[in-house]
Amino acid sequence: MALVYITRHIPDIGINLLRAAGHTVDISEKEGVLTEKELLSALAAKPYDAVVSLLTDSINKDVFAAVPTAKIFANYAVGYNNISLPDATEAGVTITNTPGVLTDTVAEFAMALILSVAKRIPEADRFTRAGKYDGWAPELFLGSDLKGKTLGILGAGRIGYEVAMRAHHGFGMHVIYNDIKRGEELEKQTKATFKETTEDVLREADVVSIHVPLLPSTKHLINAERLSLMKKNAYLINTSRGPVIDEVALVDALKNGVIRGAGLDVFENEPALAKGLASLENVVITAHIASASEETRNKMSEIAAQNVIDFLNGETPENAVKQ
Ligand code: GLV
Ligand code: GLV
Repeated sequence: MALVYITRHIPDIGINLLRAAGHTVDISEKEGVLTEKELLSALAAKPYDAVVSLLTDSINKDVFAAVPTAKIFANYAVGYNNISLPDATEAGVTITNTPGVLTDTVAEFAMALILSVAKRIPEADRFTRAGKYDGWAPELFLGSDLKGKTLGILGAGRIGYEVAMRAHHGFGMHVIYNDIKRGEELEKQTKATFKETTEDVLREADVVSIHVPLLPSTKHLINAERLSLMKKNAYLINTSRGPVIDEVALVDALKNGVIRGAGLDVFENEPALAKGLASLENVVITAHIASASEETRNKMSEIAAQNVIDFLNGETPENAVKQ
C-alpha cells in the first residue's frame, strides 16, 4: 500500500480514513508550519506516494523535486494559491482542494464579521471588560443597521452566493455584485444586480465583502484609489486572501475616515499585520478561522483524504484542480 505524508496534524477523521484504506501515514510532529528546508527534508526522507499540504506550505518545483514519487498533493483548503500550478503540471503532479464543504461555514463567518463591525461588538466587549461601562447611555457605541443597505459582493462563486443569500433573506439587504461571469442563480434568488466593474460595486455598496481567489489579477484588487471610491460609511470585509487588499492603504483609509470600518480574517503577510492595524478600533481582526468550525474542518480532512485515496486507486479525484 502507499506512503502518505501530511505536513501538519489535521483532524483525525481523514488520517483514520487513509489508514483504514491500508496506507501508511506519516505526520509532521512540529507544532507549526514547516520551514522550506524542513519540508524538503521531510519529503525527501521516504518515497512518499502522496502528500496532504496546507495553505501555509509553499509548494513549488523544489518541493516536487524533493519527492518525485508523489504524484498527488491534496491541499487541505479551498484556496490553492500556495501551490504553483505550472510547476505541478511540469512535474506531472495532480493537485486537489476541498471546495464546497466550507462554503456555508465561511459565509456564516463573513456575516459574523459584518455584524461584528457594524454593531461594534468586539469594541464594546473590550470596553465592558475593561470596566469602563458605567450605565446605559443614548449614544454609546452607535453602529449601523443592515436592513435596506446594499451589500456589494466581489466574486460571486459559491461563498459569495451564500453570503448574498444570508444578507438578503436574513437581513433584508440589497445585493450588487461583480464577477468575471454573471450569476444567474444569484440574480434569481436574491434579486442581485450585476455591476460591470469593481469600481461600480465600491461606489454603491454600504458593505463590501470579498470572495475572489488570489490570482495575479486580484492582487491588490483593493488599493488606495479604489478605497477612495467607497462610501465614507462603508465597511470592507475580507475572508478570501490577504494580498487581495493593499493592507497599508487600508490602514490609512481606516485611520483617515475614508471608510468606516473593516472586518478581516486574512492578512497580506500573515501572520504579520500591517503597521497600525491592530491598534485601530474600527477594524475587527480574526486569525484566518473563517472555515474553522469543527464540522467543516473534519469534513475538509475527510475530503483531502478521499482525494488521496481515489488517486491512489487510479481514479480521478473529485476535487482535482484544473491545471
Ligand atoms: C481557507 O482559507 C481555505 O482556502 O480553505
Ligand atoms: C469557493 O468555494 C468559492 O467558489 O467561493
